[in-house]
Amino acid sequence: MNNVDYPLFIVTVAAENGDGPESRSGCLVGFATRCSIDPPRFLVCISKINHSYALMSCAKVLAVHVIDSDQRVLAELFGGETGDEIDKFAVCNWHPGPGGVPLLEASRRRIIAEVLNRIDFGDHLGLVLAPFEVLADEHAEPLWPSEIADMEPGHPL
Ligand SMILES: Cc1cc2nc3c(=O)[nH]c(=O)nc-3n(C[C@H](O)[C@H](O)[C@H](O)COP(=O)(O)O)c2cc1C
Repeated sequence: MNNVDYPLFIVTVAAENGDGPESRSGCLVGFATRCSIDPPRFLVCISKINHSYALMSCAKVLAVHVIDSDQRVLAELFGGETGDEIDKFAVCNWHPGPGGVPLLEASRRRIIAEVLNRIDFGDHLGLVLAPFEVLADEHAEPLWPSEIADMEPGHPL
């Protein structure tokens, strides 16, 4: 499966209470897909060892940003660095959305979604999402994993 290309996303989350760097998190995600048309549902899978896992395992709202072909720097920040060591949101432009969820300014395509359900898949936690706000740009081209094959995940696997 390592040779199969799939779109990449940055999933962000905020704690319900609090406003410091520790109250925000986000990571690059390839394990993500639409999983129902009616009702509209989206699935993202978060590694249990990621810094993002703690907030994502209890959040009510997430933002899922599609990474476009000109956004390698953002992919490197959210996929090549870990919130255990740096505050990713101190070095990119964002603003708070519903429930404080960080919305990346550079993003042309994203959904903001309510977390409906969580499924334990093993080393990843599946989050079933119900999108309630969509930003779409039909002209954007995705960044593929094969274009960042030299990138090491920021959090050890
Ligand atoms: C191409 C690629 C795809 C990835 N897909 C996922 C994924 O689907 N789920 C996940 O939890 N981490 C995934 N990662 C790993 C995290 O994005 C990475 O370890 C990140 O640094 C974790 O950040 P955090 O510790 O701040 O949460 C992927 C990394 C890369 C390079």
